Amino acid sequence: MAKTKNKRPDGRKPSEMRKIEMEAGVIPNAVGSARFKIGDTEAIVGVYGPRELHPRKIRLADQGLLQCNYDLMSFSVSDRKRPGPSRRDRELSLVSSNALSNLVFLDKYPTQVIDVFIQIPQADAGTRCAGICAASLALADAGIPMKGLAGSISAGAIGDTVVLDLTKEEEDWADGATDIPLTYSPKTGFITHLQLDGEISKKNLFKAIDMGVKAAEKIVDMQEKTLKEKYKGGAVE
Ligand code: CDP
Repeated sequence: MAKTKNKRPDGRKPSEMRKIEMEAGVIPNAVGSARFKIGDTEAIVGVYGPRELHPRKIRLADQGLLQCNYDLMSFSVSDRKRPGPSRRDRELSLVSSNALSNLVFLDKYPTQVIDVFIQIPQADAGTRCAGICAASLALADAGIPMKGLAGSISAGAIGDTVVLDLTKEEEDWADGATDIPLTYSPKTGFITHLQLDGEISKKNLFKAIDMGVKAAEKIVDMQEKTLKEKYKGGAVE
């Protein structure tokens, strides 16, 4: 990246996302579901509930709980991940729950839980963001009332160049890359999730956030089109 200005390993421009594919309603047994693919990173999400939360002592009297469960599948990465929830999986489950909870009208579901199962069958960086994008689409597919859909994408920097949607190869760049995954909901105007791994100047941080927000808006436009296409004849009970 530093050697050849504006040249990324896969030839993308700094502000270019990888190719995106998405689909709603991919798991017949789920209340709502979706698949989201960005480059070689893919997420499949199933939404189940709302149902009464157990054990009773963790129920909230005045609102429901949105519970994400992120799972990087064993053969999603080149070195086979040990099956079962790792510390990273647990952290990303919490990150995903926090990114989405404020966008759902949880006050409609006191004492209940909405379960969001995020499976990552294929990983090439940006899996938390792909999972959140798929979850946003799956929650809408489930008919859960939301304040707005969410787009999630990683921005960052390679050397002094601000880039969008880093691949694993770019994240592992020997001189250090900076990764800034964020989630933005255009309808509410809120960034509901922002993380920063690495170092970046204040000027480039704002540039990266701006790039990420614009990309999230495009992703939400695609989600809306996908839902309109699926439900153009009306929802089927
Ligand atoms: O996937 P995301 O960028 O949200 O999270 P990360 O922890 O920064 O992981 C970056 C990438 O490292 C993942 O997308 C995978 O491609 C890879 N990875 C891996 O190869 N083995 C793991 N156990 C975890 C992550």
